[in-house]
Amino acid sequence: MTDIEYLEKYVNRKDLPKAIKKLKNGIPVQYIIGNVSFYGYKINVNKNVLIPRFETEELVENTLKYINKYFNNKIKLLEIGTGSGCISIALKKENTNIDIVATDISKKALKVAKRNAKQNDVSIKFIKTNLYDGVNAKFDIIISNPPYIAYNEKVMDIVYNNEPHLALFAGKDGLYYYEEILRNINNIINDKYLICFEIGMNQAKQIKALASKYLNNPTVIVRKDLEQRDRMVFIHNFE
Ligand SMILES: C[S@@+](CC[C@H](N)C(=O)[O-])C[C@H]1O[C@@H](n2cnc3c(N)ncnc32)[C@H](O)[C@@H]1O
Repeated sequence: MTDIEYLEKYVNRKDLPKAIKKLKNGIPVQYIIGNVSFYGYKINVNKNVLIPRFETEELVENTLKYINKYFNNKIKLLEIGTGSGCISIALKKENTNIDIVATDISKKALKVAKRNAKQNDVSIKFIKTNLYDGVNAKFDIIISNPPYIAYNEKVMDIVYNNEPHLALFAGKDGLYYYEEILRNINNIINDKYLICFEIGMNQAKQIKALASKYLNNPTVIVRKDLEQRDRMVFIHNFE
């Protein structure tokens, strides 16, 4: 479906001319409509949150597979950088056995995430903090799709001009947040743990090295997305 067809489908007839004008001015169709479907759930979006991506649905799908195979009791999960809340909401909808804490540094993003959780009728504890500062608890699973674009990397104009840079950029090599998350991760993981990251397609090797630097002999699995690009890393200590 083209963007115009999307607008025709989801925007009221009277608002359509204005919506088409916004599209022509380079606003992403998702921000114009105001919501997306993520893993089958309606997620509101505005300029304060990243537009959820297909790859992130694959991160959710693979994480659920791990959970079903390796965890059976009540699970404690922490999401770092929740944005619209899409990951946490989809996980909680799919598996009510997960207790979720989700953080973001952006107050405006958390406002969207809280609204989305309410509309999807799920209970998630949202915390405004830098990564997991002040989160004094242990978790079975840590999941994050952090910013991972290097400052000098070219991104499409429609992304650069509209989506929050706080959600996109991560230092000179794009690895800043992975290292910051992993640096003190031992303080917040249980004895048996799973860490799930969405990654940039050329970052797998470096993230593997970071995992080995901060964790004791971890198993690191890199998974490809549907387009055969390395886009997810799962780090764990079982099997
Ligand atoms: C790539 S977006 C991911 C959003 C959402 N989880 C998703 O997958 O669509 C990264 C998120 O991390 C948040 N973020 C950036 N720096 C942060 C920090 N220091 N601590 C916590 N969250 C941060 C941004 O505000 C943004 O919402």
